[in-house]
Amino acid sequence: MQFTRQLILAMVLLPVPCFSVDLENGEEINEVCAGCHGEFGQGGKEGEYPRLAGMPSAFLAKQLHLFRDRLRPNLAMVEYVDHRQMPDEDIRDISHFLSQIVLQTKLPPVDETAEEFNAYERLLASKRLMQIPRAPGDIEKGKKQYRKECASCHGRDGMGDMEKAVPMLLTRQ
Ligand code: HEC
Ligand code: HEC
Repeated sequence: MQFTRQLILAMVLLPVPCFSVDLENGEEINEVCAGCHGEFGQGGKEGEYPRLAGMPSAFLAKQLHLFRDRLRPNLAMVEYVDHRQMPDEDIRDISHFLSQIVLQTKLPPVDETAEEFNAYERLLASKRLMQIPRAPGDIEKGKKQYRKECASCHGRDGMGDMEKAVPMLLTRQ
C-alpha cells in the first residue's frame, strides 16, 4: 500500500515529456545535413562544417532556431532552414537524433599485414571519427587559460554539460 502510494506520487511529481521525439524523422532529415556535416554528424572539411554528433540537443535546437529566425547568420544553411522546411517538430527530432550519436576519437590499432585486414572497412571507420583540425599555438599557455576562463562551464575535460546545454569543445576520449 505504502509502495503504491509512493508510486502514484512519483508519477504525479515526475516531469512527463509533453512531446515524443521521432528519431526516424531525425534520421531522415539528417540525409540533407550529411552533405556538409557528414553522415554521422562528424563534421567535414577539417571542421569548416562543424561536428554536431553528441552535442547537447538543446544547444543544437537553439542554433537551428537562431538560423531560422535569421539571428545567427549562416549563408551555407539558409536554404535548408526556414519555417516551411524546418517546423519546430523537425528541429526537435533532428537535434535529438544528432545528440545521441556517439563518435570515436581514435581508430583502434590494427595489424595492416594481417590476413583479415580490410582497407575499405578501415576507411569507412576513419570517416566516423570526429573531425577537429589541430590549431597552432602554445598548448601550455592555452591549458592554463582554459582552466582559468573556460573550464567552469565547459568542464575540466572540455566535455561540456548536457543538462545546461554547454557544448563540448573536445573529443570524447
Ligand atoms: C551546405 C552545407 C550545409 C548543410 C547542407 C547544412 N549545414 Fe549546418 N552548418 C554549415 C556551416 C558552414 C556551419 C557553420 C556556420 C558558422 O560558422 O557559424 C553550420 C553550422 C551548423 C550548426 C551550428 C553548430 C555549432 O557548433 O554552432 C548546426 C546546429 C547545424 N549546422 C545543423 C545543421 C542541420 C541540422 C542540417 C540539416 C538540416 C545542416 N546543418 C545542413 C553548413 C551546412
Ligand atoms: C559562463 C559559462 C561559459 C564560459 C565561462 C565559457 N563558455 Fe563557451 N559556451 C558557453 C555556452 C552556454 C555556449 C553555447 C552558446 C549557445 O548556446 O549559443 C558556449 C559556446 C562556446 C563555443 C561554440 C561551440 C560550438 O561548437 O559552436 C566555443 C568555441 C566556446 N564556447 C569556447 C569557450 C572558451 C575558449 C572559453 C574560455 C575562454 C569559454 N567558452 C568560456 C558557456 C561558457
